[in-house]
Amino acid sequence: MGARTCLAIVLAAGEGTRMLSSRPKVLHALAGQTLLAHVLAALRAAGGTQTAVVVGPDHAAVAAEAQAQWPQAQVHVQRERRGTADAVLAARAAIERGADDILVIFGDTPLIRPQTLQKLRAALADGAAVAVIGFRPADPTGYGRLLTEGAGLLGIVEHADANERQRAIKLCNGGLMAFDGRTAQAILDKIGCDNRKHEFYLTDAVSIARGMKLRTVALEVTEDEVSGINTKAQLAQAEATMQQRLRQAALEAGATLVAPDTVHLAADTRLGKDVTVEPYVVFGPGVVVEDGATIRSFSHLSGAHVGKGAIVGPFARLRPGARLEQDVHVGNFVEIKEALIEAGAKANHLSYIGDARVGAGANVGAGTITCNYDGEAKHRTDIGAGAFIGSNSALVAPVTIGDGAYVGSGSVITGDVPPGALALGRARQFVKEGWASRLRGLKSLGKKAARASD
Ligand code: UD1
Ligand code: MG
Repeated sequence: MGARTCLAIVLAAGEGTRMLSSRPKVLHALAGQTLLAHVLAALRAAGGTQTAVVVGPDHAAVAAEAQAQWPQAQVHVQRERRGTADAVLAARAAIERGADDILVIFGDTPLIRPQTLQKLRAALADGAAVAVIGFRPADPTGYGRLLTEGAGLLGIVEHADANERQRAIKLCNGGLMAFDGRTAQAILDKIGCDNRKHEFYLTDAVSIARGMKLRTVALEVTEDEVSGINTKAQLAQAEATMQQRLRQAALEAGATLVAPDTVHLAADTRLGKDVTVEPYVVFGPGVVVEDGATIRSFSHLSGAHVGKGAIVGPFARLRPGARLEQDVHVGNFVEIKEALIEAGAKANHLSYIGDARVGAGANVGAGTITCNYDGEAKHRTDIGAGAFIGSNSALVAPVTIGDGAYVGSGSVITGDVPPGALALGRARQFVKEGWASRLRGLKSLGKKAARASD
């Protein structure tokens, strides 16, 4: 590809009304990130150097997501939906700035692979002025048909405008296209709206380019790459396809997934070598699991970092900001949020650790809770290295437990505990010798008296 520059124009002006949602279509999530983020990631991986996102009016949220994913993204507004070519021309300013390759891609096609975009770019580098993606859908209804002659591509006819013979063509237009930057503007400016829908069809670019004696080519891909998402059912189908791909990639990178079909990954999940993921684990966005760690069944992780050799779960919940260092053990029904758990520390049962540090080798007993929220603000708990927190303790933040300190079981700790100290914050136990026996004796006397009076 050399140093060819590449402008990507992402069409995201769709209303997505068939999603029956108040959220714009391209902001729906797939594997933990938006459809738009997937498309932008594929463009970046394919060597895109600039991107222009075309949004509908009142789509500030789409513009914000585009810029969150790609800070230099230009956002252009298409005021009225007048067709795909009109949408591309909404980004005219970007086209005029010039690029060697111009890719046009739909924001609702998140399964497109970077390799496919690279092949389109390679076709341009080989001298094509327009390159399109062809595929053979199970049901071609609604798609544009590719008109070919031998290996050559003559044009595209939209379903609505096609005759019976053309509708019998199985090879359809996948939608995304690539243009040589030197001729793109001239081609786009010639597109009219003399068709059934009175729309400016981007697909007319092919016959126009042919008329200008320019080369046009079609590349064929499988249906899953170009299927657009219009409904919640299609979103679920795309999720299934994406999960298959992510699981395959995780296995190929050396992770052990005991039952891959039951593990839900995010697009950015990073699993190291010799990581074992037991059945039924969910990864939300932003999770890194380092080499040799084990994630046991029914755990839910998001925004968490799991260090080497750590063991998480079963039934653990790691929320954003949970950072587990090497060999940490987090067991069942333990929730961790915004907390650093240093090397070798353990919290094995029924705990909430939030806004905290747990020092190296510390032991957090069953049922320990960091009381981090006072109803107004969050406060921090700091537990020193080697400290021992007895079961069922409440650590009322802000509070510091010194290195090597002990907290007696059942304590409510409201003040700092110095290193090496013992803190007890509970009612002192008292014992009444013989009390229970006397009670039982009184009861049996009462029963005898009742029987005697019958
Ligand atoms: C388009 C293609 C068709 C192809 C199909 C593949 C054209 C004319 N037709 O048809 O050949 O088989 O995709 O899925 O290109 N958009 C805008 N503004 C507009 C119109 C569309 O931003 O004015 C965006 C939509 O949000 C969507 C994309 O462009 O992301 C495609 O538009 P859509 O109406 O779905 O085109 P199709 O009729 O599916
Ligand atoms: Mg469509």
